Amino acid sequence: MNNPSSERLVLTADGTHSLYSPVFNQHYHSLHGALQESRHIFIGLGLEPLLQANAPSTPIQIFEMGFGTGLNALLAWQLADRLRQPVTYLGVEAFPISEAEAAQLNFGEQTGQAGLSQLHRAAWGTSQVLSDYFTFQKQHTTLQAFRPEVLYDVIFYDAFAPGAQPELWSEATFAQVAAFTRPGGYLVTYSSKGSVRRALQAAGFAVEKHPGPGTKREVVRAVRL
Ligand SMILES: C[S@@+](CC[C@H](N)C(=O)[O-])C[C@H]1O[C@@H](n2cnc3c(N)ncnc32)[C@H](O)[C@@H]1O
Repeated sequence: MNNPSSERLVLTADGTHSLYSPVFNQHYHSLHGALQESRHIFIGLGLEPLLQANAPSTPIQIFEMGFGTGLNALLAWQLADRLRQPVTYLGVEAFPISEAEAAQLNFGEQTGQAGLSQLHRAAWGTSQVLSDYFTFQKQHTTLQAFRPEVLYDVIFYDAFAPGAQPELWSEATFAQVAAFTRPGGYLVTYSSKGSVRRALQAAGFAVEKHPGPGTKREVVRAVRL
């Protein structure tokens, strides 16, 4: 299931790299700034509030739909270490990028966090303790085939856009995700399309709209009811 066609490296407006997928005709991040987007949505609205409220001994469980370049995982690792709060991360990825492509990404310089190559070299399907506060696992599978073993506190929902992969933004798929999201837990995503919000609501989430990064008007944090 390796990605059949080569990805193309792009530079986004905040100086952070991203990739283009010719298969889906999609970029992996906002061209207005990959780091700005990841920090604002997945870390700022998703992980950080939970870590601030968390009892230090209980790991926060993150599930990511679409590990991709690893930027969100790297930022989660950075925050866990900075706040000295345990985080357990599991990302699924159906079409992994190659280690050579990952080696081109400038995330280390941009974030100040080393370790991107460790994320990409890690064996699939095996939990890795990467620091005192960060435990990491990636699974080479589709979201649809993923079988959860725990309830997750926060879902980083980072699929390609609804126009490119509508099946990943449907009520049925969100119901599958809702089933492994802890009540009170968050699903954070960049798409605030009306159809996405309605599908989330029908699947058992209360939808909050929040200001987006940069010029993006709105993004979504959905709370599992
Ligand atoms: C928007 S990009 C990911 C961005 C990623 N979070 C990052 O920071 O690079 C979407 C990712 O979802 C993956 N993907 C597409 N369909 C999938 C599926 N059905 N299940 C799991 N991953 C999928 C793509 O290969 C791609 O890596």
